[in-house]
Amino acid sequence: MSILICDPDMAWAEKVRKHFTQLNLVADIANNGKECQLKIYKNKYECVILDIDTIHHSGAEVLKFIRLNFPMIRVVLTVSSSKRLDELLIVKEDLANMGVSTLLIKPYGLDKILSVVEEQNFHSSWKSIIENDVLEEEVEVTVQDNEFTKIDLHLLSLENAAIFDCYVRLTKNKYIKIFNRGDVFNKERIAKHFSSSKDKSIYFKTKDRSVYINFMNDFILKTVKSNEATTSKKVLLAKSLTEKYIEEVYTKGLHPQLMNEGKKVCENMYDIILGSKDLSILMRDYRENGNDDLAHCFLTSFFSVMIAKNLNWKSSRTIEAVALGGLIHDIGKLKLDRKIRTKKVSELTEFELAQYKRHPELGVDLLQNCSGISESVIQIVYQHHEYMGGDGFPNKLSGAKIYPLAKVVGLANSFVHDMIELNTNPLDTIKALISNRNKVLRFDPLIVKALISSFIKSEEK
Ligand SMILES: [Fe+2]
Repeated sequence: MSILICDPDMAWAEKVRKHFTQLNLVADIANNGKECQLKIYKNKYECVILDIDTIHHSGAEVLKFIRLNFPMIRVVLTVSSSKRLDELLIVKEDLANMGVSTLLIKPYGLDKILSVVEEQNFHSSWKSIIENDVLEEEVEVTVQDNEFTKIDLHLLSLENAAIFDCYVRLTKNKYIKIFNRGDVFNKERIAKHFSSSKDKSIYFKTKDRSVYINFMNDFILKTVKSNEATTSKKVLLAKSLTEKYIEEVYTKGLHPQLMNEGKKVCENMYDIILGSKDLSILMRDYRENGNDDLAHCFLTSFFSVMIAKNLNWKSSRTIEAVALGGLIHDIGKLKLDRKIRTKKVSELTEFELAQYKRHPELGVDLLQNCSGISESVIQIVYQHHEYMGGDGFPNKLSGAKIYPLAKVVGLANSFVHDMIELNTNPLDTIKALISNRNKVLRFDPLIVKALISSFIKSEEK
């Protein structure tokens, strides 16, 4: 692992660098914020330890630079005290959105900083859980709602021990911890909380989301292979995993560890689609009733893979590129103003629309600095709004000039957008698309046909 340390206390920075080097980590020092940015630009670091009070480009400026240009880098932010954040008008809860993986308050020891840096292996920590059969008392806690992530109880693998502390929400910012990490799930306790409650959600700390993603990738792989679950359950599992993955990417950035997880997410999606014979019937009536933005990413990826399968594309590398391209096709929107991001396209002003149309290029800017992203994925992100007639953006490409994989994701993107916007099932959405001549002409007829095939049973084809 390569680490860059930027701290106004140069003696301390040198001490940390020496410590890391002795442990065979590649560590470098930047004397100030400007040098920090330059070094990040020139070299590939996986982790930056950045002090908020760094000079010649403040810590906040360097953070913004990393967030916009190198979001895959993990940032450990150090501050002299909690008060210092208040003085700088930085809200602790906003740090994750600013690209900070971990906050460290000074003074901290060499062991502490090492454990934080090594935290990158945290995501697979569930593999070393020691099961605990003795239930402790439930504990009521007051924690901000925004520190939690929720999943449906039925998506939790109750056969295994809890992979993280599990909570039930009582009211605003009030929770009760019902299981500790490692606890064997107790049926009576689950029944006590959920049998008469409408909310069937289990809450866990958002910091554990990477553990959930890693666990679910493994769990789905086993489930698909064993063929124990129904197709509908497999789709639900893939949806939950994908949505948590997208949330993690959009808050933490595409760092290398998350890239690896993304590959596994896509492989799992591919295996489910390839291995489920009754998927066409199930997907005819699919109804989306979750978070629209997250569902959009999942469904675009899902239908892109369905199309690729129906086009008889065999290369797993191609299908994985389509799946990942479908997942992160809109990642460039992260660089747009929040105001533009949250508005409907039809409600944007002329200026805002021009900004919005830059999102494919902005996505490429972000991805070009991510190691492990294939050129295929980059081209998908770049061209997913190009249309056959040359009336798309950003380059008004037409016909055969559009990259075939981008044509697939482009159609899936438009189709899923309509499905969520019109609140219709996939079959009705495709009917509406076919009857809209202007719209259907935007897409390659072969690819439209492949999408339609997704809803036809193999014996009906
Ligand atoms: Fe887009």
